[in-house]
Amino acid sequence: MTDLQSGGGPVGALPFIYGHVDPALFPAEGLREAAALALARHHHSALNYGSSLGCSSLRALLRAKLERDEGLKLGEDELMLTAGASAGLDTAVRVFTRPGDTVLVEAPTYHEALGIIRDYPVKLAAVSLDDDGLVVDALSERLELLVGAGERPALLYTIPCFQNPSGATMSEGRRRALLQLAYRHRLRIVEDDVYRDLYFAGPPPPSLQALDSEGMVIRLGSFSKILAPGLRLGWAVGSAGSIGRLAECGLTTSGGGANPFVAYVVAAFCEQGWLEPHIDRLRQTYRERRDVLLAALAACMPSGTGRKPAWTKPGGGFFVWLTLPPALKARAVLKEAEGRDVTFLPGEPFYAEGGGEQQIRLPFSYIDRPDLERGVEIIADIVARMLPG
Ligand SMILES: Cc1ncc(COP(=O)(O)O)c(C=O)c1O
Repeated sequence: MTDLQSGGGPVGALPFIYGHVDPALFPAEGLREAAALALARHHHSALNYGSSLGCSSLRALLRAKLERDEGLKLGEDELMLTAGASAGLDTAVRVFTRPGDTVLVEAPTYHEALGIIRDYPVKLAAVSLDDDGLVVDALSERLELLVGAGERPALLYTIPCFQNPSGATMSEGRRRALLQLAYRHRLRIVEDDVYRDLYFAGPPPPSLQALDSEGMVIRLGSFSKILAPGLRLGWAVGSAGSIGRLAECGLTTSGGGANPFVAYVVAAFCEQGWLEPHIDRLRQTYRERRDVLLAALAACMPSGTGRKPAWTKPGGGFFVWLTLPPALKARAVLKEAEGRDVTFLPGEPFYAEGGGEQQIRLPFSYIDRPDLERGVEIIADIVARMLPG
């Protein structure tokens, strides 16, 4: 089940419920040509089982991209392909936890990641987040409590860039402090970095994995946000030891590395030099949509003490996170909104241990300008009408 279906109820004509790439932005023509090239040049390998780390030409292209973008020099065995970041997280939880372990997550966090983790016999513990990302002092306190209670905190799942759902980005200082804490507790970190490339003003701080000197971080990337989610292709970066453990599990031993055919198609797309211009276009489009959404919120939402909702101003990614005034609940606003053909996800599913009753996720990736404006006008009108006085 993906974000696309998970909302349950009616989707509406203004579906703020989708935290997705707009299908109008899929590079379908380029992928069609790339598929023809991949079949013409590599059909023997592309249509066969592949090595456990995945298609070597795409891995080389990804290592070159990480070196170009971030100055990161990776060894051949420090990057593997996955069937998307979701599959990377699933494998990491399977390989790096034991039954009864605790997995720490941000509050709020990507709700579908909670579903992946809940597939395993582990406990979840949530740690608060602010505009600078995960609150490391709160994590430290939670770790002390867990260890004091005889629990084994095995893994932290974090989304440090343009977080889903809050839009927050973890500062470099927080990243460094988090790593020191993780080293002290021997806490593995799964860094979900799927929005890193989609920045609007400048690149985000270095990734946790790039700053990691002790091999505790596995970073997940994905073509879902920068090409198309139907490709089901992503990558994981980490120490050779960690990547080896992910790659040598029963799944790859039986089925080989992730999606060889798709990997050859994406490699051909990248070799044509089409990826970077495509990402540039996405950055521009999403930046414009973010600006439209923020301007509409500023123009339409009620003002005055106790009446004005608060919202985040993300520097990239897909999401604005809206907090309603104290008197209002997101589900009550949603009920009215559905009657006017607007749907969105209220905050609760994004919290592993409760919370989010007053929050609304507003993605700006899927809906274009006039509908973004109309949707915000409707939500703002409902909020204003429902507020007392
Ligand atoms: C933070 C985050 N991680 C992972 C995913 C899913 O990635 P993939 O399609 O690569 O499995 C999403 C999609 O919404 C996401 O927001």
